[in-house]
Amino acid sequence: MKLFGVIGNPISHSLSPIMHEAAFKALGKSCAYLPMLVEPNQLDAALKGAAALGFTGLNVTIPFKEQVIPYLTELTDGARAIGSVNTILFKDNQIIGHSTDGLGFQWAAKEELGLEFSNRRVLVIGAGGAARAIISQLLKLNCIVYVANRTFAKIERVIRDIAQNRANQIVPLELSTNKLAQVMHQISVVINTTSVGMQETKGQTPISADLLHSNQAVIDIIYNPKESLLLRLAKEKGCPTQNGVGMLVWQAAKSWEFWLGITPPIDVMYAAVKASLP
Ligand code: ATR
Repeated sequence: MKLFGVIGNPISHSLSPIMHEAAFKALGKSCAYLPMLVEPNQLDAALKGAAALGFTGLNVTIPFKEQVIPYLTELTDGARAIGSVNTILFKDNQIIGHSTDGLGFQWAAKEELGLEFSNRRVLVIGAGGAARAIISQLLKLNCIVYVANRTFAKIERVIRDIAQNRANQIVPLELSTNKLAQVMHQISVVINTTSVGMQETKGQTPISADLLHSNQAVIDIIYNPKESLLLRLAKEKGCPTQNGVGMLVWQAAKSWEFWLGITPPIDVMYAAVKASLP
């Protein structure tokens, strides 16, 4: 039997075990995928333990995506570029860190909205961990990425850390209606990567929905609630919309490719996630 799991803290809310287990079962694969709560001071021991127990792979979630890096023996180029790891492969005594978040985001938008990002002007709201993965992917696709964040200084950090030779493709913006209004007509895709709109802030949007144009695709990486207020208002305007389920599923699918060299049954994963959400 091949062993997999997700490490994080907290971890009980994670939908990854349900999603991966459903896909393994559908293919009749002899694999197990476990949620594993790790204390921050036990991260090194947890990885060495998983290696010693013969685990094939792990996913990594909050708060360990960056913290895990010193304990890995190798990083893929993509993970190094964003300084974040969501997938680990144990192979030949190596512990290899990889990130599938950016690719997962790209594939979800392609499959759900038919969106190809190449050369587009895209607005990313937020400059946290999720935003880094998405921005890095968009830069590779030759997008001009407008980044708006509540804490402006954090955008400068993102540029320093991940832009490499593509800093000229990033336009930093204050997160204010006035500033955004000046550029919105140029934007073809709006992406919310902040937590604004999640359960605790269900009645809020990260930007005023009045700014949206009906020809803009609007993607929110929030999946609980399934339809954030931003998405509901965007849909009312006629914008194509997409929630965070697709990124969740596709980053998992890209983890399978890294661990096993195969693509899982995507529809099974979507169904497992949707059945678990209120
Ligand atoms: P994740 O890994 O999910 O991206 P994160 O790294 O903590 O989480 O980033 C959270 C993002 O949501 C940040 O861009 C944060 O803005 P700040 O950099 O100003 O903290 C943004 N965010 C969280 N709450 C917000 C709020 N109430 N209004 C605007 N932005 C908010």
